[in-house]
Order: sequence, then structure tokens, then C-alpha cells
Amino acid sequence: MKIVKVKDYEEMSQLAAEKVIEVMKRHQHPVLGLATGSTPERTYQILVEKYENNEVSFKHTTTFNLDEYVGLAPTNKFSYHYYMNHFLFDHVDIEKENVFIPNGLAENLEKECEAFEQAIKERGPIHLQLLGVGPNGHIGFNEPGTPFDSRTHVATLEEETRQANSRFFNSIDEVPKFALTMGIGTIMEAEEIILLVSGEHKKEILQQIIESDVTETIPATVLKTHPNATLITDLDI
Ligand code: F6R
Repeated sequence: MKIVKVKDYEEMSQLAAEKVIEVMKRHQHPVLGLATGSTPERTYQILVEKYENNEVSFKHTTTFNLDEYVGLAPTNKFSYHYYMNHFLFDHVDIEKENVFIPNGLAENLEKECEAFEQAIKERGPIHLQLLGVGPNGHIGFNEPGTPFDSRTHVATLEEETRQANSRFFNSIDEVPKFALTMGIGTIMEAEEIILLVSGEHKKEILQQIIESDVTETIPATVLKTHPNATLITDLDI
């Protein structure tokens, strides 16, 4: 895994957006894997700015999001559907039928996971996957202990994750206990992966990712075995 040190959150976001655009220009029908959370917010804003300046079009782009909470409707402002519309999709020329986000309201969640995998199989491979990392090392909602060969599945969120994400909700009680997430095996099939790590609160996990052996206890360490993964961070390493 290549490590790129940048000076701040802005430079990290600029670099990530440039990488996304580079991949979009290289493919006639680009396929992007996208993350939510605080980390990529500025990256999406920059992509919207570039779109508005006619530097990039999403017309032929397909996107697959990593995850979605179980039980939240796309219109719920805490859902990842809502987040993606708010930060990116509502502002660019992407075709809504090319947007894939697991449906947390599906009656049969297992079937929803299978359909999501099938869509990646049909449209993929994912050319570039953006990732953030949780304080416990999770990628997507693959919590510590998730097998490296896991596919899209229903995940039980750890208390630490619910606590960390409660800042987006009115209270911790509103944070769902389950989510649908791309599996680690699914993520690892992306041709290229960018892991964004920013902010002092990620210092400890960043150190662990860099120093630890590859272990299911720290899911993000799996990226060290990917042939084209880059970690971009504004933290001192
Ligand atoms: C989000 C996701 C999560 C986040 C991680 C970091 O789609 O899959 O793994 O990337 O929890 O979240 P932030 O960026 O809010 O610190």
C-alpha cells in the first residue's frame, strides 16, 4: 500500500478528487465505489465544482456505495442515500439508474445483498473505490473480525461505531444497529483503492494500520495486500 502524506484536509480532498477524475477520463463507462461519512465530504464538493466548470461529466458513470443503514428510507436525512444526493448526485449529471446504494428498507435483506453483488458483477469491476476508516479499523461497515473473503452482507454495528456515528443523529438511540455493507472480499476486487484518513481522532488507528500485521482484527490492514491501494493522510506518520 502506497502512503501519501499531504498537508491538510483540503489537499487530501483535492488529491482524491483528481484521482477520481483521472479514472473517469480513462474509462468510457467509469465505475466508482463511493463512501459516505465526514471524510469524503470535501472530495464530493470539489467534484461538484469541477462538474460545474465543465471539467467532468458523470453521464456515463456508474456508482456503487459501500453501505446503508437498515431501516432508514432514502428520504431520511440520516440515510446514506440522502447523504449522497445531498453532497453529489443532486448536483451532477449522473443518471439515477446508474446509482447503486444498498436498500436498507428491503423486505428481504439477504436478497438485497445478493442483488447488489450481482449488479457489481454485471457493471463492474469497480475502477476506483474510495474508503474512509472507522476508529476501530472498519472499512465499509465491516467491523473487526469480519472475514476478508466476505461479500455484501448484513452487519451488526459495534457500539463504538454507533457512538462515533451518533454525531450525525439526534441521539445515539436513533443510530441503527444494523447496516448493509459491501464485504471485504467485494471491496478488494476494485482495481484501485484510495483510503482517506484525516484528523487527530484517526491518529491511533492510522498508526495501527501502518504498524500491524495484516489481521481481520483491524479490517483496514487488508488493504496492504491489494496491488493498487493508496492511503492519503494529513496526519504525521
Ligand atoms: C461510510 C463507511 C465508513 C466510514 C468510516 C469513517 O460509507 O463505509 O466506513 O468511511 O466510518 O467515517 P468518517 O469519515 O465519518 O470518519
